[in-house]
Amino acid sequence: MNSASLQLTVVIPTFNEVSNVSVMIDRLTHTLQGIEWEIIFVDDDSQDGTFQKLQTIAACNSRVRMLRRVGRRGLSSACIEGLLASAAPYLAVMDADLQHDENCLPAMFQAVHAEGFDMAVGSRYVEGGSTGDWNQQRVSVSKWATLLSQKILKIQLQDPMSGFFMMRRAVLEDAVYRLSRLGFKILVDLVVSSPKPLRIKEIPFHFGLRVAGESKLDTRVAWDYLMLLADKTIGRYIPAKLISFASVGAMGVGVHLTVLGMGKTFFALPFMYAQGAAVLISMVFNFYLNNLLTYRDQQLQGRAWVWGLLKFMLACSLGGAANVGVANYLYGNDGLWVLSGLMGILVGLIWNFGVTSILVWPQRSAH
Ligand code: GDD
Ligand code: MN
Repeated sequence: MNSASLQLTVVIPTFNEVSNVSVMIDRLTHTLQGIEWEIIFVDDDSQDGTFQKLQTIAACNSRVRMLRRVGRRGLSSACIEGLLASAAPYLAVMDADLQHDENCLPAMFQAVHAEGFDMAVGSRYVEGGSTGDWNQQRVSVSKWATLLSQKILKIQLQDPMSGFFMMRRAVLEDAVYRLSRLGFKILVDLVVSSPKPLRIKEIPFHFGLRVAGESKLDTRVAWDYLMLLADKTIGRYIPAKLISFASVGAMGVGVHLTVLGMGKTFFALPFMYAQGAAVLISMVFNFYLNNLLTYRDQQLQGRAWVWGLLKFMLACSLGGAANVGVANYLYGNDGLWVLSGLMGILVGLIWNFGVTSILVWPQRSAH
């Protein structure tokens, strides 16, 4: 019996990868001969039929399992949930789009199984690896992101941005309560959340071309990454979502002042109307960006978007009233207008964040 017990789970996050999954399974079946393995696909309710296709395959291939998440998005959180569903002593994460070279898997397995490493990482930035056919812009963004992790989070890896790695199950279990689960960079999250330094082997590979489907990498991924960095540094004191909400709010102040200025100079509106328009427009702006960035993992769409906007505006109007009330009270006592103004903003911010996080974007998952 022992020879048949499960050794390795490969977790593969998917979002609209219908043309890639069966090739992926064939390739793993070929490379992982001699190992007892399974795949867990974690699909965020793809609309291209990925999940239905996986169901058909899994019904007659016991090495294939899957998990479907509804109303949620996020590469890291998908991987973590897949990893937690595994019973294997060794765990791997890899993309579904065939850009990660599956031929590295046996060497990775060897590293964590026989060579005493805690983790093996498929790396583009060690001797023998490359980013393949990336344009200059993507190469430099990736290099910058890598540098930030190395300098700010003190990660020693050459390629912490990699989404292709294998580890002993203890690595996950030791880190699980500290994981941020934000955005795309699951490896960074795991390494920084580990209570003790990990022995990691980097294994070179050439990053392949995406043949089918589209990349999900966009500027929002960069925002998520900055939030991950914030969470891993000051997150102990201030939640990452509050940092994101406050940053959006700061941009909202810019929008407010621009609308106010234009209302007064171009349209010659009386101050009160210009200010009123500025409040309305900056509220819509704040709602839009928070829905896109801060709450990307639980974005509102369609009718829920409109309803959410109304609730957001109502909550923020009360926040505005609290802001003015507190500032006015403090100013009456100390006469320090900057300090009173800032305290008003702080109270308004905390109110708006707290109330909208409950009313507009309620948490569906427990943490
Ligand atoms: N479940 C789920 N939910 N899967 C997702 C989501 C999501 O929100 N977003 C992306 N994926 C899946 C894709 O379907 C794909 O299998 C994998 O995650 C990577 O997404 P890509 O859009 O192909 O990312 P990439 O090629 O730009 O970036 C990859 O390379 C980077 C550099 O090595 C990823 O592997 C990154 O993790 C990696 O850092
Ligand atoms: Mn890809």
